[in-house]
Amino acid sequence: MRVMPSATPEAAGAPARPDAAAAAAALRLSFCGLDFASPIVLLSGCVGFGEEYTRVEGFSNRDAGAVVLKGTTGKPRLGNPPHRIYETPAGMLNAIGLQNPGVEHVVGTVLPQLDFSETRFIANVCGSTIEEYVEVTRRFDQSPIDAMEINISCPNVREGGVAFGNYPEMSAQVVAACRRATRKPLITKLSPNQTDIRENARRCIEAGTDALAVINTVMGMAIDVSTRRPVIGNVQGGLSGPAIKPIALLKVHQVYEVAGPHKVPIIGQGGIVSATDAIEFLIAGASAVGVGTALFYDPLVCRRINDGIAEYLRAQGLKNVTQLVGTLRTGRDIEDCACSG
Ligand SMILES: Cc1cc2nc3c(=O)[nH]c(=O)nc-3n(C[C@H](O)[C@H](O)[C@H](O)COP(=O)(O)O)c2cc1C
Repeated sequence: MRVMPSATPEAAGAPARPDAAAAAAALRLSFCGLDFASPIVLLSGCVGFGEEYTRVEGFSNRDAGAVVLKGTTGKPRLGNPPHRIYETPAGMLNAIGLQNPGVEHVVGTVLPQLDFSETRFIANVCGSTIEEYVEVTRRFDQSPIDAMEINISCPNVREGGVAFGNYPEMSAQVVAACRRATRKPLITKLSPNQTDIRENARRCIEAGTDALAVINTVMGMAIDVSTRRPVIGNVQGGLSGPAIKPIALLKVHQVYEVAGPHKVPIIGQGGIVSATDAIEFLIAGASAVGVGTALFYDPLVCRRINDGIAEYLRAQGLKNVTQLVGTLRTGRDIEDCACSG
């Protein structure tokens, strides 16, 4: 995938590297009471079950504050028919369809193989019914997992997923039911494919979510003109990567308006490939930043992003990354800026 070059701190002829210990301290944060060594969160579906990239030379889970495992359902799922992924300009479409071995296998076989001293591991909870979300949440509650992310925004399954995430009332019902099933930190992952993400965020906060993940993929499609068929077996897929960054940034800004006053932290995500991208999300109101698609073409991208954020903080005279969160200077109410043409 080709990514447009941008004026990144890491490319700006960076002055002397900041002292390593000070840089590490500047990147550390507490997220829902969990100790994150970095604001970077490796995103669900892009790192398997937390072990996949550890086979890549130079990669370390320690470079991320947390790693979110692949979406997990009550029973195993085979996922969608091929093609499941397709590269697009500055992004990719995917319609994996939540292929996973089921929660029993993940808890019984996958989690025991993870090294919990490396990073925080977060489960991605999925379901077709509220009962299934609760079943999966309960099972992870009895496991060493550090936190759970409720995926009410997957666009690639017919039942559940985004069907819950598109309606604030249904989102709130899922969150409230999962809340009753665990005392571990709950993060709710919101969809950009809905009318009013602010109202949805508000309802999820009232229902007891501890944090929000903003955004999941944006629905899209591609057509093979020689066959006049959709390229993706599922017809539609979720668009990720740099193509969706401006959308994601605005959604984070909007959700921060609702979540900020309640001190509910956001994992901002969608198209982050550089330190500058990550810094934009932090300024918009994200307390942590997700990296997903970027890993497919640069598995070592986290180190570069961490270094760039640390250098930016040093240059700005900020001691810790939390001092940057929500520091956007708009001077305008977002309602005043509705027109683009
Ligand atoms: C191949 C692929 C699989 C994904 N699977 C999941 C998933 O199982 N659960 C989920 O919540 N999000 C899933 N996502 C969405 C990502 O976690 C992330 O929210 C999205 O891709 C935006 O970030 P990015 O542009 O950095 O990739 C998936 C994304 C991709 C590209």
